[in-house]
Amino acid sequence: MDPLAIDWAALKDQAESELQAASSLQGVEEARVRWLGRSGRIALALRDVGRLPAAERPAAGAQGNEVRAEVEALVSERLSRLEAEALHARLAAETIDITLPGQRPQVGHAHPLHQVWRDLVRIFGELGFAVADGPEVETDWLNFGALNIPEGHPTRDAQDSFYVADGQLLRTQTSPVQIRAMQALAPALPVRVVAPGRVYRRDTTDATHSAVFHQIEGLLVDRGIAMSHMKGVIAEFARRLYGPETKIRVRPSYFPFTEPSGEVDVTCVFCHGAGCRICKGTGWIEIMGCGMVHPVVLKNGGYDPEEVSGFAWGMGIDRVAQLRYGIDDLRHFLQNDLRFLEQF
Ligand code: DAH
Repeated sequence: MDPLAIDWAALKDQAESELQAASSLQGVEEARVRWLGRSGRIALALRDVGRLPAAERPAAGAQGNEVRAEVEALVSERLSRLEAEALHARLAAETIDITLPGQRPQVGHAHPLHQVWRDLVRIFGELGFAVADGPEVETDWLNFGALNIPEGHPTRDAQDSFYVADGQLLRTQTSPVQIRAMQALAPALPVRVVAPGRVYRRDTTDATHSAVFHQIEGLLVDRGIAMSHMKGVIAEFARRLYGPETKIRVRPSYFPFTEPSGEVDVTCVFCHGAGCRICKGTGWIEIMGCGMVHPVVLKNGGYDPEEVSGFAWGMGIDRVAQLRYGIDDLRHFLQNDLRFLEQF
């Protein structure tokens, strides 16, 4: 063979075996530079074509260009093969099991206290009572004075509260909404509202005491309202809340804003009157205070006690929820522990 002759076939074979041996993208890139780079093996060989006898140059040049094109094709073939292999490896490694159950978004629900709150409002709604509202920061006048609880009255001690500013406090009861509702409606009749809401007392919190709790107030004012109306409404309410067998009894009591006043017991929800641990053997469970609205209160609400009369009641929502769900510690209601809340 002519010592100057270029063995293109051998060059191509060698390039091919080097490319086949390259097992990484980087290896292929190195081989490409080595063979197709500006001073790579093929470029150098093509430069040698110029030193061939003139007659051989065209054929050798053409052959060289052909080999270069073939090596280029081999490079890109090798590259795409390695890329495909890498992709397959990744797909195999990163497989996701689409049969696994998805992550459920956490859906909340009403707090047990609020479930009871809504039930009570619904029942009174069915009996014709609308919902009235009042602020939790209340004036001393509406929380006490207008309700016939003047300064120095012992009831103020029993309902000691958090004073926010002069003459303003966190309401100790929902009863001020009685005055607000009457003032908003007077002289229209009837006044027929319930007022559920949060109330506050200066109590140290333990299993049976809480500085924050909930009440629902009721008020009905109209012409010719008697105590029998009160008993009828409360008895019907009790039957709708605790079942048709439920009975009530009204015991005499005292509240400054009602006269006469009473406390209402229902037959024990658990033993139905036989006597058990929950009702402490009495067969009865106290559920609310009530009474005929005091003339002073009617007057403060904007009504003439000579013309109208009414009854009112107030009950604890927390207590109803405790009885319904068998919750022995009031603190559960306020701690927002999901392990507790998710049970209801
Ligand atoms: N406000 C009273 C309390 O917190 C409950 C109450 C009793 C409300 C009798 C009334 C009522 O409307 O007539 O202890």
